[in-house]
Amino acid sequence: MDNLIEKVSFRLFEESDYDDVHSLWIRSGLKLSLSDNREELLKFAEFNKDSFFLLIHDGDIIGVVFAAYDGRRGYINHLAVDPKFQGHGFGKLLMDKSMEFYNSIDCVKVHLMIEKDNSQVIKFYNNRDWHIRDDLILMTKTLREK
Ligand SMILES: CC(C)(COP(=O)(O)OP(=O)(O)OC[C@H]1O[C@@H](n2cnc3c(N)ncnc32)[C@H](O)[C@@H]1OP(=O)(O)O)[C@@H](O)C(=O)NCCC(=O)NCCS
Repeated sequence: MDNLIEKVSFRLFEESDYDDVHSLWIRSGLKLSLSDNREELLKFAEFNKDSFFLLIHDGDIIGVVFAAYDGRRGYINHLAVDPKFQGHGFGKLLMDKSMEFYNSIDCVKVHLMIEKDNSQVIKFYNNRDWHIRDDLILMTKTLREK
């Protein structure tokens, strides 16, 4: 696995990548929801065409990050590296790519959410200067179940 980092490249998500991306998310253990089914995800992708980054090795998708932007704030969604490729700096590479994008559009602040049962990943973000907000409470209203 040495020098793997020199053998990867980025490209943007395309509709035909849906199944591979979805399977990578499942393999990496992310919790998915209705918003990750094909129809919903393609809607979201359409709004963020320039910042749904895929990391490619030997033609395969080995990492993904959805660096969403709503015109004010950035939101990192579903960062994942294929378990076979974890621990080689690809997560860092995907985060660097996302930050490069947010800097290029002069975005002021970026948020991300971590499931409480995935709290071991906090260290990964702490190491990259992210901090936990304890001054906010996240509230959600579900508008439809399917
Ligand atoms: C989080 C994730 C994307 C990191 O990808 P990766 O390619 O393994 O990370 P890297 O090799 O770039 O690791 C960079 C650093 O983070 C640390 N790290 C990586 N994953 C970690 C984890 N799960 N827990 C603690 N530390 C972690 C590494 O030890 C390394 O430390 P360093 O900064 O001191 O060098 C990957 O573990 C993953 O896909 N996890 C499952 C999906 C997930 O939880 N996504 C985040 C949702 S909020």
